[in-house]
Amino acid sequence: MTMTKRQGLTAAAAIGAILALGAGSAQAQFPNKPVTMVVPFAAGGPTDVVARIVGEHMSKTLGQPVIIENVAGAGGTTGITRVAKSTPDGYTIAMGHMGTHGAAPGLYPNIAYNPQTDFAPIGLAAGTPIVIVTRKDLPVKNLQEFIAWAQKNEKTINNANAGSGSVSHITCVLLHEMMKIDPNQIPYRGTGPALTDLVSGKVDYMCDQIVSVSSQVKGDAIKALAIATPARSPSLPDVPTTKEAGLPAFEVSAWNAVFAPKGTPADVVAKLSDALTKAVTDPATKKKLEDLGGVVPDAKGASPEALAALVKSENDRWIPLLKAKVKQ
Ligand code: MLT
Repeated sequence: MTMTKRQGLTAAAAIGAILALGAGSAQAQFPNKPVTMVVPFAAGGPTDVVARIVGEHMSKTLGQPVIIENVAGAGGTTGITRVAKSTPDGYTIAMGHMGTHGAAPGLYPNIAYNPQTDFAPIGLAAGTPIVIVTRKDLPVKNLQEFIAWAQKNEKTINNANAGSGSVSHITCVLLHEMMKIDPNQIPYRGTGPALTDLVSGKVDYMCDQIVSVSSQVKGDAIKALAIATPARSPSLPDVPTTKEAGLPAFEVSAWNAVFAPKGTPADVVAKLSDALTKAVTDPATKKKLEDLGGVVPDAKGASPEALAALVKSENDRWIPLLKAKVKQ
């Protein structure tokens, strides 16, 4: 059978229309398979804790599992680089944080992503105040005794962190500067495994995010000397603020937030953002995060626009500061 030119054009237009419809409905169906949320640190640390709580609720809204994949290394930049370079279809997203998206470019001159231009921000999941924690049997009762002990034993003490550029690293860099010490720093693939070694007494202290340490503090497995926020946390009401404990200049909080790669279609970003907002405003999910000490945003605070503004302000704060302070 042969086609006239006119019949051929009509058939081509029909095929085009069917293909366009197909593409439209594939997008409309997002997600039609599991979504992978990359956590750029080991399991059991604060970023993993927040991702698992938030991801569980997001999966209900999305109607597909949100699978947590821990891709640790280089202070979180290995996992975040993987997400930045992944196909921007919404099926690979990241739980980034103040280190990976706020501070890391100040420490890694050849970092393979730009936190402000290589991502479609989805939204803030939780603010995570910093707590100074020590092994249980460290011979100090409060922050002032800790400072005196650290200054006396500077050459032999061990500070654990999650690698260069991680929150636990950069916040203790600030603390050390205020304490005028330069102790050994032991890098781990996340503060999950570092905390295990703190509990067993293999390392002496850490600056960690509250969501992974509060249970261990409540269970007396480690000691909390101070929380670096202006007010005490309802999760650890007996722990003094750094101001109360005599070190008011050490005030710093971290955050964890969801990012998709740049180029993710707007309707997919909107679906992911809607799922995140529903997660953080869901009373049970919010309570789980707050019980651990997380500071949970409202719908406006969890928006993509608010996260874009946060990343910019954190880059403006941390990058020049770290370039000046930390040995590269
Ligand atoms: C983690 O999940 O291990 C942390 O967020 C690491 C850190 O930045 O200190």
